[in-house]
Amino acid sequence: MYTITTVQKTIILIQRQKVKKRIIAVLVKFGNGKSAETYFQIIKTIFWRKNMSTKLFYFSGTGNSLKLAKDMAQELDNTELLKISYDMNFDQTDCTIAGIVYPVYCFGLPNIVSNFLERVQFADTAYLFGLASYGGMLCSSGHILKSRLKKRGYALGAGFAVQMPGNATNVYDVPKEGKRNGMYQKERKRIPEIAAAVKDRKKCSVETNLGILGRLLSGVSAAMMSKCSGADKSYSTDASCNGCGICLSVCPVGNIELVDNRPVWQHRCECCMACFHWCPQAAIQAGNKTSSRGRYHHPDVHLKEIQKSSAGVIS
Ligand SMILES: Cc1cc2nc3c(=O)[nH]c(=O)nc-3n(C[C@H](O)[C@H](O)[C@H](O)COP(=O)(O)O)c2cc1C
Ligand code: SF4
Ligand code: SF4
Repeated sequence: MYTITTVQKTIILIQRQKVKKRIIAVLVKFGNGKSAETYFQIIKTIFWRKNMSTKLFYFSGTGNSLKLAKDMAQELDNTELLKISYDMNFDQTDCTIAGIVYPVYCFGLPNIVSNFLERVQFADTAYLFGLASYGGMLCSSGHILKSRLKKRGYALGAGFAVQMPGNATNVYDVPKEGKRNGMYQKERKRIPEIAAAVKDRKKCSVETNLGILGRLLSGVSAAMMSKCSGADKSYSTDASCNGCGICLSVCPVGNIELVDNRPVWQHRCECCMACFHWCPQAAIQAGNKTSSRGRYHHPDVHLKEIQKSSAGVIS
């Protein structure tokens, strides 16, 4: 009599290509050759949960979206985290579940995420979901994601969203500690619910907020984001800059050069504000209101993770 554990172990072994080939060869030899692959697919389908390969594609400046991705990975099986970048591998046809985890920018999507959606290739059978982190104005950003995927012939299974501390500190100050902790608490409760829906490949509606106003704002998002690359023109450093170079190391697109030990922005900005928030001296100003404002990053995401992830893949 097989125990469940033995069956699971066997299925994991079956996943390996060599074993698969051998099983098929045996089936071809002793059974009906034509249906050998079919038998194999049936076995796979019965145990598909164990065979799932999940990838979470994320973009994150201050760690909120990375935190969501990391927490989701803890809840899901066989999950790989991949940072979205312009030079990543866009052939992602090998995953059965793909999540796109992103921060809401200007009521819509970051440009780097839009570029990803234009180029990525998924398997037709993959279950796709979105997971937005947003400061308060989620609007209809999930519908933008949905329609971009639809244009490419892919269906979005669900569009989830979790409110996190807003990091657009050029516009408003960092939320107070009590408010931030309240959001973290809700996030801890919400992620297992979202992960359960993903495991079941649930078809859910896309989460939105602010009703018609939200839809209108998301409608102008693309126009606003088209100006994003030059947003760094308002960036400068004050006297506390010590030339440590951390701002360079966290920039996801290599938009900063050090000249005479001071950052110089190259106007290919993604507006993520990573340089601004991760500068240990709080020496970067974005306009004339930020010198009195706080700096923020998610407490469970460390500089090394953002630096490492700036370079490409983490697992
Ligand atoms: C350029 C920019 C634009 C933003 N626009 C919005 C917005 O339209 N609505 C919103 O709710 N939050 C907005 N935010 C806040 C972020 O979506 C939010 O803080 C997110 O959790 C940041 O994720 P990250 O830490 O992974 O970068 C914006 C942030 C930035 C930097
Ligand atoms: S991280 Fe801050 S202190 Fe370091 S070089 Fe950049 S601006 Fe200067
Ligand atoms: S320059 Fe700063 S805000 Fe712009 S993409 Fe790089 S880290 Fe993000």
